[in-house]
Parts: sequence; structure tokens; C-alpha cells
Amino acid sequence: MKPKKVSLATRAIHGKKLYPYKGAVTTPIYQTSTYRFENSNDAVRYSQGDPSVYVYSRYHNPSVEDVEEKIAEMYDAEAALLFSSGMAAISTAILSIVKAGDEIISTPALYGGTYRFFRDVLPLYNVNVTYVNADSLSDISKLVTAKTKLFFCESPTNPTIGLVDLHTAIAEVKKAERKTGRKIATIIDNTFASCLHQAPFTIGFDLVVESATKYIGGHSDLLAGAVIGSKKEIKQIRQIAKYLGGCADPFAAFLLSRSLKTFELRVQRQTENAMKLAKILEKHRNVLRVFYPGLKSHPQHAIAKKQMSGFGAMVLIEVKGGVRGAAKVCDSLNVAVNAMSLGGVETLVSIPVYSSHVNMTAAELKQHGVTPGMIRISVGVEGIEDLISDFEQALKKI
Ligand SMILES: Cc1ncc(COP(=O)(O)O)c(C=O)c1O
Repeated sequence: MKPKKVSLATRAIHGKKLYPYKGAVTTPIYQTSTYRFENSNDAVRYSQGDPSVYVYSRYHNPSVEDVEEKIAEMYDAEAALLFSSGMAAISTAILSIVKAGDEIISTPALYGGTYRFFRDVLPLYNVNVTYVNADSLSDISKLVTAKTKLFFCESPTNPTIGLVDLHTAIAEVKKAERKTGRKIATIIDNTFASCLHQAPFTIGFDLVVESATKYIGGHSDLLAGAVIGSKKEIKQIRQIAKYLGGCADPFAAFLLSRSLKTFELRVQRQTENAMKLAKILEKHRNVLRVFYPGLKSHPQHAIAKKQMSGFGAMVLIEVKGGVRGAAKVCDSLNVAVNAMSLGGVETLVSIPVYSSHVNMTAAELKQHGVTPGMIRISVGVEGIEDLISDFEQALKKI
């Protein structure tokens, strides 16, 4: 006897109840906001903390978890948590550590969004940030008070490609901990180096944050962020993330899962291209300065060699003619794209005073080391000869 047909509406909603095909080579996209309980015991098990019961995608999603597991593995860490953007990752991680009255010590050269979060948002919640220059890290123990909860830094820095001496920073934080008798959490934004070139856990950092929009995503087609750390810390951040709601979307997670397959290949090629391009640009008569940690001329080349296993694919140049010269170059490029963001397979250029550091005061630009004639180059995987000739023809236009 044929099974009784259910109504069209029911069939339209439930289909044939086909479950995910086992053995798929790629992780399927669990594009779902909620999950069917086998029966109400599942709800009970969930309420008792059973992690195998899925209930709602703001809390957990298999496509997202797949990427979290892989990113944790890549960092050789216990756990990772994926977010809807790098800023969601950074803000949630910080808000899970600090409370009203606490203080943060940070190096000042930061991605503009992070800096503005520190400057404009955290003080509203009575959390204040004091800054220690990367060249005077020994001041950390002078700046530390009984309220200091967190040390934050970014290295290499956006957009100036400066470095924080990470071993010294951690040693100074440990010294300050002995002074106050209190734990100070440490977070590094590892976006520019990525896990291919820098392993902050081996240096002693507690947590790593990354804008996965950049090298992890690698194709300029998604936004995501990640926090990586111990199971205990990630569990605590996950709790706050549930309330703040900056969870990653399953489709973005699917794209990330695809991106991870070529992560090493892409970033290796980008890094090789960056070194070649930086060397050529250094000799150009219209280029005043080139900042690339792999160049001997970089003021912190020795630090780069100590703490990085490769030098990354971000290059900063300062051209003649100030911001007009920089705009002329960016507008004349044919291969490289004049666009914000970084880390994708296509070479992108941006002028920091018009992008990451827009609307900052002259004093803030000075503190961040940003000048009008700077162009930040996120080197892609194109043929290096094409990139070199593109920059050469554009620089002639100044
Ligand atoms: C170093 C760094 N950290 C964090 C972010 C923020 O990431 P997202 O744009 O994914 O929020 C960016 C963005 O450019 C960045 O460059």
C-alpha cells in the first residue's frame, strides 16, 4: 500500500526528510537557524548542558564548528570561536574579560576600528585604555595598576607594518603580574601575520584574534572573525558571544572551509610576491620609504626575524607628493585594485588617511605613525612581473 500522502504545504516544508548525505567531500552548509529535536528528551539534555544537542545557530552550527576546529588546529590551540567579523571577535573577547572600572594597556598602533572601539566605546562602560609605545615596553610595569585586566597589541600593525617585540611584551606583563599579584590577560591581533608566519601561543599569549575576512577568507568575498585560545577561555567568550550575537553565518563558514584548503598556498605565494615587490619599490625614485619586515631596511627587521617565521604580504610605501601623489598612484594602477581590506588573492591598495585612519586628528595620526603620502599594499597572488610593471607605470604618474 502506498504511504498516505501528506499535504502539499507539509511536503513543501519538510520534503522527503532527506538527511545530510554522509561522505560528502566538502562540509555541507548547515544553513539553518534551528534544529529539530528527536523528542523532548533532547531539550532536557540540552538544558542539562549536553553539547551534542543542537538547538539554535546563534549558539552553535556544524558548518561553523567545522571551521572553528580547523582554525584551532592551525594554531595548535585547544579551541576557537568564529564570529561575523573581526570586530565582533575583538569586541566580544574583550568584553568577556573586562568589567566596569577595569583598565587595558595597549600599544597604540592598531587597526582604526579597534582603536576607535577603545577610544569611543569602552570609556562609555568605564573601561579605560592606556597606551604604551612599542619602543618603550618596559613602561608596562609603570602603567599597570590594580585595575589592569588586559594587555592588547597588534603585530605587524595596520597600516604602518611596525612590530611589537612580543617576547619583551610578554616578559613585561609577567613582571607586572608579579608586582600586582593579579593575572593580566594577553591578546594579540594576529591578522597581518596569520598563523602561517606567527605563533603567539608559543610566545605566551593567552588569546589570538584574527579578522578572518583577510588571509583566512582570502577571496574578498566574506566577513568573519576568530578568537583562538584554551577551552576554558573560549567557553567563557562563547557565553558572552551568545548574548552579544555576533555569531558567524553558516554560509560564510562554508566559504571559509573552502578557503582554508588553499590557505597555505595562497599566503606563501602572497609573501613571496610581497618580498619581490618591496625590493623593487625600495629602489624607485618616487618612493620615499618602504616598510616591509623582510627588508633589512625595516627598523625592526631583527625583531621580525626573531618572532616571525615569514614576513607576510603587507607592504607600506610612502610616495613623493603627499596624499595627492598617493591618490595619483592608486588611480593609475591597472592590476592592483584601489579598495579597502586586505588578505585576498587580488592585490589591493588603500591610502590610510582615507581609509583605516580617516577622520583622525593630526596628533592621532602622528601617534600611529601615519602620513598622508602612505599607500598600504596588500599583495595578492598575481604574476609578480605584472605587479611590478603595474606599480612602475603608476609611480611614473606622480
Ligand atoms: C588588523 C585588523 N584587525 C581587525 C580588523 C577588523 O576586521 P573586520 O573588518 O573583519 O571586522 C581589521 C580590518 O581591516 C584589521 O585590519
